[in-house]
Amino acid sequence: MRQVDRIVILTGAGISAESGLGTFRDEGGLWAQHRIEDVATPEGFARDPARVHRFYNARREQAAKATPNPAHDALARLQADFRGEVMLVTQNVDGLHEKAGATAVHMHGELSRALCAACAHRWDAPSEMSVTDTCPKCGMTGARPDVVWFGEMPYHMERILDALQTCDLFAAIGTSGQVYPAAGFVEEARLAGAATVELNLADSDMTHAFDDHVAGPASRTVPLWVDRLLA
Ligand code: OAD
Repeated sequence: MRQVDRIVILTGAGISAESGLGTFRDEGGLWAQHRIEDVATPEGFARDPARVHRFYNARREQAAKATPNPAHDALARLQADFRGEVMLVTQNVDGLHEKAGATAVHMHGELSRALCAACAHRWDAPSEMSVTDTCPKCGMTGARPDVVWFGEMPYHMERILDALQTCDLFAAIGTSGQVYPAAGFVEEARLAGAATVELNLADSDMTHAFDDHVAGPASRTVPLWVDRLLA
């Protein structure tokens, strides 16, 4: 087996489920309660910005109260103790990887940041954003959460694709494989010759594309997987 020096890990909402944050597509998940086109598209924000702020204000409040679970802790331990490189890429906007002490690449943005729709300036979001918030740089209204919506380009893609093309091991944790480009990362890594593993509660849409699948709750499977990598 190829020696593992470079690891890329992709996380999704499933890693935060046991911290009490709802996923998007599991039964009763966020997309069963809200229409994507209303709260997670630029068009939805243009139509009804107050509704979009209410949605993300509620999520920001929940995320602020949530604490990392053993899966987040284990990934922070891996990043600190692995002798090679560990790039942690997350689709999550909840900040729990950072609370656990890890450094994550936020491809879908962060709830804790605000973005000016007029001049693209970014700043720390207040706990509650509103339609009257103005940009501290250009003074315009139209401040939005710094999260990536459907129809927008995820952040840091060049850096992520570079890492996928040179990694030896790619792992996807708690993500349904339904949203691109993240769902295509396994294919990128496989083409680069990396071993691939999926850790998920159940089979995902992309399970067939991985070499290995570890079934179970992330709080149990991820610490064991990290122990093996550090052994
Ligand atoms: P999803 O809600 O689509 O998928 C969550 C995945 O986590 C599912 O495959 C579950 O089986 C798994 N899961 C649930 N609980 C788990 C647990 N305790 N341990 C391990 N796995 C568990 O969430 P994402 O894949 O993150 O984007 O969704 C991707 C993107 O779609 C999000 O970033 C968001 C969403 O729309 C935007 O808003 C742009």
